[in-house]
Amino acid sequence: MKPGILVARAVFPEVIERLSQHFEVESNQDDVLFTPDQLIAKLQGKAGVMSTSSSRFDADVLARLPDLKIVANMAVGYDNIDVAACTARGVMASNTPDVLNETTADFGWALLMATARRITESEHWLRAGKWEKWRYDYFLGADLHGSTLGIIGMGRIGQAIARRSMGFDMRVIYHNRSRLSEQQEAHANHAVYVSKEELLRTADHVVLVLPYSSESRHTIAAAELELMKPGATLVNLARGGIVDDTALITALKAKKIAAAGLDVFENEPKFHPDFLGLENVVLTPHIASASAPTRKAMANCAADNLIAALSQQRPPNLLNPETFRQV
Ligand code: DGY
Repeated sequence: MKPGILVARAVFPEVIERLSQHFEVESNQDDVLFTPDQLIAKLQGKAGVMSTSSSRFDADVLARLPDLKIVANMAVGYDNIDVAACTARGVMASNTPDVLNETTADFGWALLMATARRITESEHWLRAGKWEKWRYDYFLGADLHGSTLGIIGMGRIGQAIARRSMGFDMRVIYHNRSRLSEQQEAHANHAVYVSKEELLRTADHVVLVLPYSSESRHTIAAAELELMKPGATLVNLARGGIVDDTALITALKAKKIAAAGLDVFENEPKFHPDFLGLENVVLTPHIASASAPTRKAMANCAADNLIAALSQQRPPNLLNPETFRQV
């Protein structure tokens, strides 16, 4: 008999078909957002789950899932999974790194450019029928070329963003848990390692691409926004909660920084309503990795992890290798 799995959110039909060759699949193509109790009920007797950041797997949930062997997240971020609790129960956990690096870096640039050059703000104004003449000072923005780009979180996506800055003749500074090798720095447009404070004081454009954890919560709050240049832009591609959104709204209202571009929010999708009243912010609904080929690659990567885990092979993106030895 094939093992049973749950695909917890809607996904490409061909991926469901592929999984069905290996498993008894319960899918959720109506994309119902399960409560924790509903998720637990659906997972009784199931050996695996394909999950996204909207499903939490903490110690309490895992304790009620005795048959579960793998949580395969369709995301590079895995702050919805308590990996230590998985390990304690012998449950494998996996994510989908690498396949989304370049697409997410492209989007980081789209958001950075839209924010610095006031693209959405000016489009809203045009659509509202306000354009009657050309003026020298309409929608003056900040230049990208020749400016200093500060990247907080210099993993694979951060490095891909830095590489793209070569074409804009930018200086790159970065802050990260650990310094890159000389070779990696050279490849990332000769990025220079600095403290977080120096980065915030010096950068014209700050991009956040660090993973969320209890330590990275509110990496940017009121004190950090105070350090930034008045003309600076801030882009958050990482996770809601890395920025203190209330402090950011206060700073944007007071023009302490020029503008922000946000793909992620605290409590998304129910983000802070005051963002909607601000002109100096570009808002997108957590779509940085959303190109068709990349989302398909992410879904297939999560499927690869499930298929390997439930056929006694090591999942290619196993986050807790200790559990594989326990199988
Ligand atoms: C990721 O891969 O972590 C993206 O944010 C999608 O959740």
